[in-house]
Amino acid sequence: MAATGSEKQGGKAYYVTTPIYYVNDAPHLGHAYTTVAGDVLSRWHRQRGEKVWFLTGTDEHGQKIMRTAQTNGVTPQEWADKLVTESWKPLWEHLEIANDDFIRTTQKRHTDRVQEFVQDLYDKGEIYKGGYEGPYCVGCEEYKLPGELLDGEGDFAGQKLCPIHKTPVEILSEENYFFKLSDYGDKLLAHYEANPGFIQPESARNEVVNFVRQGLQDLSISRSTFDWGIPIPWDAKHVIYVWVDALLNYATAVGYNENQAKFEDTFPADVHLVGKDILRFHAVIWPAMLMAQGLPLPGRVAANGWLMVGGEKMSKSNLTGIKPQDLTSHFGVDAYRWYFLRAIAFGQDGSFSWEDFSARYTSELANDYGNLASRVAAMVGKYFGGELPAPAADGEAEKAVHEGLAKAVAEADRRIGDELDFQGGILAVFDFVKQVNGYLTEQEPWKVAKDDSAEGRARLATILYTAAESLRGVAVLLNPVMPDTSQKLWDSLGAEPALGTVADQKVQEAGTWGRLPAGSVVTKGAILFPRLEEKPTA
Ligand code: MSP
Repeated sequence: MAATGSEKQGGKAYYVTTPIYYVNDAPHLGHAYTTVAGDVLSRWHRQRGEKVWFLTGTDEHGQKIMRTAQTNGVTPQEWADKLVTESWKPLWEHLEIANDDFIRTTQKRHTDRVQEFVQDLYDKGEIYKGGYEGPYCVGCEEYKLPGELLDGEGDFAGQKLCPIHKTPVEILSEENYFFKLSDYGDKLLAHYEANPGFIQPESARNEVVNFVRQGLQDLSISRSTFDWGIPIPWDAKHVIYVWVDALLNYATAVGYNENQAKFEDTFPADVHLVGKDILRFHAVIWPAMLMAQGLPLPGRVAANGWLMVGGEKMSKSNLTGIKPQDLTSHFGVDAYRWYFLRAIAFGQDGSFSWEDFSARYTSELANDYGNLASRVAAMVGKYFGGELPAPAADGEAEKAVHEGLAKAVAEADRRIGDELDFQGGILAVFDFVKQVNGYLTEQEPWKVAKDDSAEGRARLATILYTAAESLRGVAVLLNPVMPDTSQKLWDSLGAEPALGTVADQKVQEAGTWGRLPAGSVVTKGAILFPRLEEKPTA
């Protein structure tokens, strides 16, 4: 159910998170995919008039980071600082990610609160000391179950491999502290049952339910064979397991044990966006940790599928050298933000292909959308000296356009804002763009323009007003996805003096016909989607 802006403004923020990413390497297309989705979702809710909090950040502890730093001959902190300032933050700025905060797990605001949280669980009897031996994947920072391992071949013959990373696991034997996760199976199942939307999509929910039904083992929450982590407060020979440390970012970043008012206004998250590889951590371990502490559970854990390359999850090792910046320098930032959400159903896996991106850019962005915007601006310029004319009488054709816009607004709002179906929402808007193109083709304003009579001028005014007002709606609806393009279109429509900035436009009002006033100064403006250069050769 969509709350209205006024209901939400004073109360709890709509709180969206991305995973906090490991800083062992620079971000790639897969990381950017989840982050852009989070940005679009939070911009959408801001345009509903809601108070929103959008959090991203970096996961800086653990063996994986420690080893990378060692290989590069620097301390883990130096490595993390370098990657955050030189790679992660600049990419998010480049992609126009409007996060409200950026948490790093090495910050004191986080480490102190994590120690308090874990100490509290210990004091409550939720944590005990025990021993564990099992296969561990450093890539996942996770103990694996023997049954899920793959048999190695070739270089790895005779070894057991992690099913995600396809690299050998290590057998670890340690004395650790354990969290009584096994106590929470029934409570988790009851929560999934009572909240069918808690895990999205359905396939992810089924996977988690089946996993929990098989029975949960207690979770090792400390490590003692290395020291790059937050010390266990009562036993400094151990550091806190990196996943327990990392999951707590969602609480520490919004004032847990520090700023009660901020915490109550923000926590818990309405949506945790995660890749499906880290679903269990978010849908099993995290809610169990919160239950143990008596804290409220998040509204939804939404798992996105994987961007694939050559049939494998896209990762640093199989990227074939494509960086987000390689795509943005060719297609532009807005088209980049649009493409992955448009081309892949959220929750499903999808492959990236340069050819598919080029084809969709040309047909959907440049031809359907960009040309419509430039044609309308050109005709208002040519036939009305750049001053948007007042419409005369609307006929059936105009009414169909009004209804088309209202339908696109309702559909996009439900799909993007509520269901996280970004593809469905974007398509609803582009169907409307097609409808407006069809309207112009049928009404042939360029022919009507030859009729100089008062009637002819009135008809031409109605057609061009209808097209420009439609574009006003499109600019508002696409602003969360392509903010720079919407700004250009907004400028070209001369909308700001009367209506304010495009980001201030409410989704709920986007379908109200007639908001763009006659007399607005329409200018040709910048081309929204320039023709693509030849594909650069690698
Ligand atoms: N640090 C943990 C997350 C802790 S959250 C409390 C981690 N980090 S990660 O750097 O490996 O990033 C994982 C996330 O990046 C995935 O869950 C997913 O959201 C995104 N992706 C990384 N590769 C991806 C693809 N190939 N495709 C889609 N998303 C991918 O795990």
